[in-house]
Amino acid sequence: MAARMFALALTCATASALLTGHMSRLRADGRLPRGFSIGTTGLSFSPAEKPAMNAKMNMTLVVLDEPTESFAAVFTRNAFPGAPVLVGKRRMAERAVQAVVVNNKISNVCAGSPDGPVADSERVCAALAAELGLAGGAELVVPCSTGVIGWRLPVAQMCAAVPALVGARQRESALPAARGIMTTDAYPKMRAADACGGRIVAFAKGAGMIEPNMATMLAYVLTDVAVPRDALREMLPRVAAASFNCISVDGDQSTSDTLIALASGAVPLASGSAPLAEFERALLSVCAQLAADVVRNGEGVRHVMEVVVSGAPSEASARAIGKAVVNSNLFKCAVAGNDPNVGRILAAVGSCAGVVLPDVPIGGASIRIGGRSVFEDGRFQLTGDTEDVLYAYFKQAELPLHAETPCDEGFPFPPHERTVLIEVDLRAGDARARVLGADLTSEYVAINADYRS
Ligand SMILES: *[C@@H]1O[C@H](CO)[C@@H](O)[C@H](O)[C@H]1NC(C)=O
Repeated sequence: MAARMFALALTCATASALLTGHMSRLRADGRLPRGFSIGTTGLSFSPAEKPAMNAKMNMTLVVLDEPTESFAAVFTRNAFPGAPVLVGKRRMAERAVQAVVVNNKISNVCAGSPDGPVADSERVCAALAAELGLAGGAELVVPCSTGVIGWRLPVAQMCAAVPALVGARQRESALPAARGIMTTDAYPKMRAADACGGRIVAFAKGAGMIEPNMATMLAYVLTDVAVPRDALREMLPRVAAASFNCISVDGDQSTSDTLIALASGAVPLASGSAPLAEFERALLSVCAQLAADVVRNGEGVRHVMEVVVSGAPSEASARAIGKAVVNSNLFKCAVAGNDPNVGRILAAVGSCAGVVLPDVPIGGASIRIGGRSVFEDGRFQLTGDTEDVLYAYFKQAELPLHAETPCDEGFPFPPHERTVLIEVDLRAGDARARVLGADLTSEYVAINADYRS
């Protein structure tokens, strides 16, 4: 099969050279902004729901040197949120916070009596506040959990691990945290940017929503730039809308999705709107790259699709049409097979536009794939070598499957960051949106059909 040729052409030596490059990028990006320390630790426990199991959990701790008033968050809209989401929402009303604690393995959703999960999260926060000597107590600590839904947190073991967690703190790199929060992720995801004289570092976990019973996206943004609280709270939902909310692997929303931003304030921010705009641009770029990493890391994902819809009457309609393309099962399958089935893009665009823009004529729309025009002024442009050129374009954007890699360890990192770029210009306005999605492969189906067995 054509797909295999790409993987076989990669030798183990090439893979290890790529890995070296990737790791040096992560190390450089990981440098922590001023005013933060990070610790991680591991623990073993037997879940109450499955006593024969020897389960492993990681705890990850982010601590600010001083409490900060400048913090913001965006939470899942799922109507069955995890207890940490309920507690986190309460913390948002506090004057200040000073730490975030994350555990993987168990998401602490709807386990035990209604108050049980919330009390469990609060007990872990209280143990941390005590160990860190935070005068403000547990209210200064934001909890996050990710993993199995319906199991109880092993609170006693977690509290027993708190001294080791606090003792493991260092001020150099966020990389251990990016690793510590992983669940089914194949590799740590971390991005950074310098802005306004300071630094933004962000890390996330999430293998896409491809295991709807487990997957969650958690993302953390740390900065030393003194962005005022109100400004941060205003811009974070905007940034999330244009990054994390513009990705789709299969459209499932988890119970624990959380994005938290913390500013230590160690680097003063000049007054006026220009520095704030510069910071927001950098924040968006970091979050957009991180969101792309989440899609690329989705299990069974072989192509990342990037759909840019322009010329729309509104951003919302542009985004809806972009999502319609990346969520079209027929088109997703075509992309998986490197089949440039342009008709399926047109069908998806038209199907969505007919609903969200029923009175807007889009007959003059154009579609480009990889920069090549395939539809113009109501006509397909599928002449000559278009089909071959597009096939080759899809092919170079393909990601190798874990099982096809030449090394025993597979690819614990993305071997490239190419996307399949699809540009749709509706020629009906000035608004645009960029949406990322994934193809639909037989591996995806196999993984999720076998998930419970
Ligand atoms: C996660 O926990 C395991 C043990 O359960 C440990 O070996 C590993 O180092 C931990 N990872 C991090 C990043 O702390």
